[in-house]
Amino acid sequence: TNRLKIATIPGDGIGREVVPEGMRVLEAVGRRFDIAFQFDEVDWSCDYYKKHGRMMPENGLDQFRQHDAVFLGAVGWPEVPDHVSLWGLLIPIRRDFNQYVNLRPVRLLKGTTSPLANRGPEDIDFYVVRENVEGEYSEAGGRLYRGTENELAIQESIFTRRGVDRVLRYAFELARTRPRKQVTSATKSNGIIHTMPFWDERFAAMKADYPDIATSQYHIDILCAHFVQHPDWFDVVVGSNLFGDILSDLGPAVAGSIGIAPSANINPEGDFPSMFEPVHGSAPDIAGKGIANPIGQIWSAAMMLEHLGHKDAADAVIAAMETVIADPASRTRDMGGKAGTAECGEAIASVISAG
Ligand code: NAD
Ligand code: IPM
Ligand code: MN
Repeated sequence: TNRLKIATIPGDGIGREVVPEGMRVLEAVGRRFDIAFQFDEVDWSCDYYKKHGRMMPENGLDQFRQHDAVFLGAVGWPEVPDHVSLWGLLIPIRRDFNQYVNLRPVRLLKGTTSPLANRGPEDIDFYVVRENVEGEYSEAGGRLYRGTENELAIQESIFTRRGVDRVLRYAFELARTRPRKQVTSATKSNGIIHTMPFWDERFAAMKADYPDIATSQYHIDILCAHFVQHPDWFDVVVGSNLFGDILSDLGPAVAGSIGIAPSANINPEGDFPSMFEPVHGSAPDIAGKGIANPIGQIWSAAMMLEHLGHKDAADAVIAAMETVIADPASRTRDMGGKAGTAECGEAIASVISAG
């Protein structure tokens, strides 16, 4: 038996509804592939903040340093300002565990339809590789002269050669494993953003190491347009923290629903656990109703299995997901169905168990 120790953080809102479905599917696939999960769950969240004045205990992450992975739902709830909840929990995990790659697949799953006319699964199949610990998401800056007419906010974007190179390298290595072997860089070097010409220089330097990989680069604005008009152009798209964030909501929207999109926050060296979470947030507008799509969380579980060396189990989860959503009756509302969160999760788990 393979044993995996997983830290689970359901967090806020629909995070608490979809994480149990992810765990249900993991248990089912574990029975089939002889993997025993130890789930260590914590209640760190905005509720925790209301009781304790912080999002997690001091040094909270220390208890997970030896875990195999972190499985997270979503962080953020209207009663607590987002900058407090996110800087208090989500961002520290990404940074303290040096998860500098945020890998976000965009795929039109078999049996589903894109909101774009005449696009099938062969047209939409790429990865967004997002820089995940620096860039526009920096702590350097602040607010001054609050409440006065001179009030201002400043934020420095931080791009280091080491930080840019390692995420670019990851993107090129990923492209080598793909049939089309292409990398697209998201940039904005026509403007007055100092960081982007630097990003472009590093991209050009990295490209020289990978003569077998075809490359392109687009400014972020037209790249957004191309995602909608030509999703079939893309294979691996690499971008900074903010550009990657934007592209990784746009991509899944083009592939059907933000509710299905998974992500892996990866520490490629394996010095720390990696974290697996859906791309979407806590969805306060539908939380508590049992209607959230659990597939983003379940697909994230599949990415976790693959990362931990269980490719067969990961493939079984994705195949079951595709089987279930091909049936309109098993889809949640965001995909045009009527199924509830648990119904969809149970259906996926039972396909796995039957396999
Ligand atoms: P959101 O992703 O929570 O919701 C956006 C829209 O998509 C909503 O209409 C929501 O109902 C819908 N949606 C999202 N996930 C869905 C699912 N699984 N099934 C069906 N519909 C789904 O984004 P938001 O409204 O911008 O943010 C809400 C809160 O979540 C904020 O506090 C934000 O900071 C936080 N957030 C957290 C994360 C994270 O933890 N990684 C990611 C994004 C947003
Ligand atoms: C995401 C989210 C987060 C991000 C927010 C909640 C800080 O939008 O995971 O995409 O921007 O990284
Ligand atoms: Mn986002």
